Amino acid sequence: MTQDHPAIDPSRPQAAEVAHEWRAADLDPVAERRAERQVAGLFGAATLLILASVLIYGFTDYNATVGVPLLGDVNVINVFMGLTFGLGVFCIGAGAIHWAKKLMPDVEVVEDRHPLTSDEEARAAFAETFAAGVADSGILKRGILRRSLLGAMALFPLPLIVLLRDLGPAPTHGQLNHTIWRAGTRLVTDVTYLPIKAADVPVGGLVNAVPENLPQVEEQDGTLNARAKSVIIVVRLNERDIIAQQGGTPSAPWDYQGILAYSKVCTHVGCPISLYEQRTHHLLCPCHQSTFDLADAGKVVFGPAARNMPQLPITVDAEGYLIARSDFQQPVGPSFWERA
Ligand code: FES
Repeated sequence: MTQDHPAIDPSRPQAAEVAHEWRAADLDPVAERRAERQVAGLFGAATLLILASVLIYGFTDYNATVGVPLLGDVNVINVFMGLTFGLGVFCIGAGAIHWAKKLMPDVEVVEDRHPLTSDEEARAAFAETFAAGVADSGILKRGILRRSLLGAMALFPLPLIVLLRDLGPAPTHGQLNHTIWRAGTRLVTDVTYLPIKAADVPVGGLVNAVPENLPQVEEQDGTLNARAKSVIIVVRLNERDIIAQQGGTPSAPWDYQGILAYSKVCTHVGCPISLYEQRTHHLLCPCHQSTFDLADAGKVVFGPAARNMPQLPITVDAEGYLIARSDFQQPVGPSFWERA
C-alpha cells in the first residue's frame, strides 16, 4: 500500500496496516441487542421528558414559585419546563451518538495518493527534451545571439522603473498638510462655481463645493492637485442634532447655523464620498464602507478609515454667502507617514 515517499515515515504503521478492533456489538448479537435497547431507551426517555415539559406548562399555576438554593424563589414553569425539555433534547443527542458509535458500520477507509514527484523515466524524458531544445536553438554555439538576448532581457525592467516618474514629485510636508482654502474664501458649487448662500441650504440638504479660486489655481498649476484636496461637502443639520465639532468656540463655531463643511476625500485611501444618509447624518464611502458621523465631529463609526473626516471651519460674509474661516486644521485625505 505504501510507496517510498519523503513525507511518509515507513517505520510507522499506516492506517490500513493497523489491526481493526471489532466492537462488542460487531461480534456478539447479545451486545448488539443491548446497544439497540440502550439507544431506544434514550429516545424513549426523550419522548417522556418532552411530553412532561408540555404537561408542566399546561397544568402548573402560571405564577407558582419554588425555592431554589442560591437562586431564591423562581417560577415553577420556568424551572421544570426548562429542565425536562433540556434533558429531552440531551437524550435525543446522546441516543444518536450511541447509535453511531455502537451500531453503525465501523470501517476504516484509506485513500492512497500517488507521490507528487515525477518518476525517473519522466524526469529523464524532460531533461532530454530540454537539451534537444537548447541544441536546436543554437544558443550555445551562436554567441552573438546569446549575448544580445541577455542584453535585451537585462533592460526589460527599465521601462517599468522609468514609469515610476509618472507618480509625480515626492510631496513635501506642506503639500500634504495644506489645501488652497483660506480665511474668507467663498464656497462655490462644484462644476458650476456659483457662490452658496447660507439661506439656500435646506436642512437635510447636501451640496458639493470647492473654493472659489479653484479655476484660477488649476489654470496656473495645470494639474488637478488643488481640486483633489480641496473638494468638500456642505450639509445642513438641525443645530440641536449636532453632538460635537472638531473645533470652534461658542462665539466662533465651525458651523454656521447648523451648516457644516467636511472634506469629501475619504480618510481611508482617498475615495470621493457623497453618499449621505440624512436621518442618521452618516456619510458612507462607497469604496470600503467607511462611515462617518457628520453630527459628531465626522467620527468614524464603521469601516477601515482610521481618522475622522476633516472639518472645514466656515461662516458667512456680509452678503450671507458661505466662506471658509481658515484652511483645514488637519491634513485631508488618506493617512500617510507621520500622520497615522
Ligand atoms: S477609501 Fe473610503 S473606505 Fe476605503
